Amino acid sequence: MARNQIDRLNEVGRMVSSFNYIFDLSLLLEKILTSARVLTRSEAGTIYLLRGRKLVFAQSQNDYLDRMIDDPTELPFFNRNLEMDRTTLAGYVALERESLTINDTSGIDPSAPYQHFTGFDNESSYVCQAIMTLPLATAGNEPLGVLQLINPLGEDGLLTCFREEDEQILGFYSSFAALALEKSMTMSSAVSHNVEIIGSQDPSETRAHAMRVAALATAIYDHWSQKKGVNEGERLHSMNLLPLAAMLHDVGKIYVPKSVLTKPARLDPKERQVMESHVLAGARMYANAWTPLDDITFKVILDHHERWDGQGYPGWVDLETGKAIPNRVGENGQILGKKGEEISIFGRVVAVADVYDALSNRRYYKEAFDQTLAIQIMEQESGHHFDPEVVESFTAVKSMLNKIKNQFPDPPPEKPEAGVEE
Ligand SMILES: [Fe+2]
Ligand SMILES: [Fe+2]
Repeated sequence: MARNQIDRLNEVGRMVSSFNYIFDLSLLLEKILTSARVLTRSEAGTIYLLRGRKLVFAQSQNDYLDRMIDDPTELPFFNRNLEMDRTTLAGYVALERESLTINDTSGIDPSAPYQHFTGFDNESSYVCQAIMTLPLATAGNEPLGVLQLINPLGEDGLLTCFREEDEQILGFYSSFAALALEKSMTMSSAVSHNVEIIGSQDPSETRAHAMRVAALATAIYDHWSQKKGVNEGERLHSMNLLPLAAMLHDVGKIYVPKSVLTKPARLDPKERQVMESHVLAGARMYANAWTPLDDITFKVILDHHERWDGQGYPGWVDLETGKAIPNRVGENGQILGKKGEEISIFGRVVAVADVYDALSNRRYYKEAFDQTLAIQIMEQESGHHFDPEVVESFTAVKSMLNKIKNQFPDPPPEKPEAGVEE
């Protein structure tokens, strides 16, 4: 084997071993696609994941279109699906579980068992001339999706052909990437099912809300942790786990009666107490942390209703009994809220993401606030409800708000119902 090929295989080894530490599915997909593009010097690429018989766009990168447009979620094909059949290269590869390298899509023989679907090229005015398509399959050869690399560029930056050994090297790469993908998909699926259960109990806690809170909280933490100079290893580890933990912030609502969660009037003090019990109920589920994910999830759940000024809940209470911790009570023996940095950073970040998302989206008890007004309210609460530094990071990433909203749209509303805010 040539020296250069050994170097490339070593590079593949380094890339795929880092995948084992990534639990968050979006982060993993991004990493798999970015590294595959580096290996083949491709200008663009896509990962489709299989949902039933459909191939769904799960990750898409295109350096050329990125220079032309601001927001990739505005591309006409974003959020579209392909059928798993022979009318497209991706469909064929998913069906047959064999790789395909085509250096000139316009020259595909019409009698070939696959065809290049030109619909996306026509809509985006970007021509996919050379395409390598690889299956992403489990160890048992069950299809998970497809990795597609588009338009390799030469040293001169001009379009060229895939190199002879690319398909073999990428075949090796994609088989390891698929193992990491299966693990991450299994974990995401477990979290998603919990989110569905929460949503079935509380119509405000939709899957889309959970995804948006996860994405926004991660963006805020990313900015905050860089600014604070958090150690890079710790920072990446937390960013990897935070999206999953953030999605579970209201898991304790499964213990709150639906009649309280959806009461179409203001809650009385007793009902409010029942509503607020979702924090301790959820935190108890993660109290005996087995994994770092459990630990972050515990902190998110326990602290997401605390306030920077100490007026939040549940405050300094015993987790099991819900009663005040004896040496942490106020002058009259009342429960004290956690204050300032007593609240974990994950709780402080998710509080901002959760409240902003509730304000800026329609809920069954209210219309969506205009984005400018919602941002203004968040900024006014800096130092009161929220950590001022976290609000600064929220403001710094506000250019992402529309992208997140477009990426995770709410399902169309069912019949409108009156209700009450939590
Ligand atoms: Fe909550
Ligand atoms: Fe929420």
